[in-house]
Amino acid sequence: MIEAPVVFTVYPGDCDSYGHLNQAAFLAYFEKARWQMLADGPGMDLFDREGVWPAVRRAVVEYHAPAYPGHSLRFQLAVTRLGRTSFSMRQVARRASDDPLVATAESVFVCVDRQGAAVPIPPAVTAFLLPALPTAAATQRRVAVHGLELELDDRGAGPALLFVHGYPLNGTLWRHQAGAFPGWRTLVPDLRGMGRSDAPDLGYSMATYADDLAALLDAIGVDDVILVGLSMGGYVAFEFLRRHRPRVRALVLADTRAQADSAEGRKARETAMADVREGGAPLIAEQMLPKLLAGDASDELRQEVRAMISAAPVAGILGALAAMRDRPDSTELLAELGGLPTLVIVGAQDAITPPREAEAMAKAIPGARLAVIPEAGHLTPLEQPEEFNRHLRTLLAGLEGAPPVAG
Ligand code: MLT
Repeated sequence: MIEAPVVFTVYPGDCDSYGHLNQAAFLAYFEKARWQMLADGPGMDLFDREGVWPAVRRAVVEYHAPAYPGHSLRFQLAVTRLGRTSFSMRQVARRASDDPLVATAESVFVCVDRQGAAVPIPPAVTAFLLPALPTAAATQRRVAVHGLELELDDRGAGPALLFVHGYPLNGTLWRHQAGAFPGWRTLVPDLRGMGRSDAPDLGYSMATYADDLAALLDAIGVDDVILVGLSMGGYVAFEFLRRHRPRVRALVLADTRAQADSAEGRKARETAMADVREGGAPLIAEQMLPKLLAGDASDELRQEVRAMISAAPVAGILGALAAMRDRPDSTELLAELGGLPTLVIVGAQDAITPPREAEAMAKAIPGARLAVIPEAGHLTPLEQPEEFNRHLRTLLAGLEGAPPVAG
């Protein structure tokens, strides 16, 4: 998020004969607000200096309330997706005096050279667009699947652990697990629409997420994995099991549930969809934060989770909400998981998928072990990483043909 807002006053000359700020003027205000943010930041000539130009490829503007001469409009901007050559941003215009939403603009830009060819976004531009996101580590790479690119953190060598994050998070949820199991390879992707992965407008379902992961494993030459899914990542894991069962050697279900959404739950997804359209990812962060972490979580952790959610692309959030709303019930699958070493983990203070649900799920899976982690809410691997990793190591140590577990 580029914090400092820009404020413009509506001039009569920019209004139509009914006195409303007209559409052409509104587009110009949105554009001027972007330039002003460059002027207030790295300088108007940033793109010239870097030898690229941000060409607009698509812009969708929604008008929510009229603006009249004399109104002050406050424009804010959030970068919602950062690809290799393209990026998306969402701008919000609010009336400065009393805060109602007046208009939003979602735009997609491609960095082009002087011949108009798409070129990688220069690091100086990335640093301006997403100062909140750490620069990609050397362990991260892009993997092409199904016509888009997924971000993957790939560390170590050996049999693979595949970690699937929840909603509306990204692979940094697993930052204490990535590379933490010597003798094993840890694979931590960002699901489509989340983190640094591409965020198409359409094409989200549990089946798509699961098939993306299977295609990602194909692309990097991995046959089978220990599959670890947290919350929505667990819903993806169930779908992965339905579609690609031979590729799963063992399963970890963290802070998740097998049931589909209830009618009330589906309604809540619709409400969240309306909210994210109106208030963007930061609003979702504010709504979710109180439910995600244990009561005594540190401010630092709260800040980290807030930043992670606020950076989620709106298209990805909308897609994930629809995918969760429409996901099938997986309760009957549980009894069929006999023979698959399974660990169910839950935070003792998980308010979203509480311990009693985890207990019932573990009971329904033949041979599954349950670990309840004290002083943790819904994000156990981030809140109590040592405990989480200890339980995971125990599972790994029991697997046939597994490398010795160290660390
Ligand atoms: C998640 O953490 O992935 C979500 O909160 C799960 C859900 O909303 O069902």
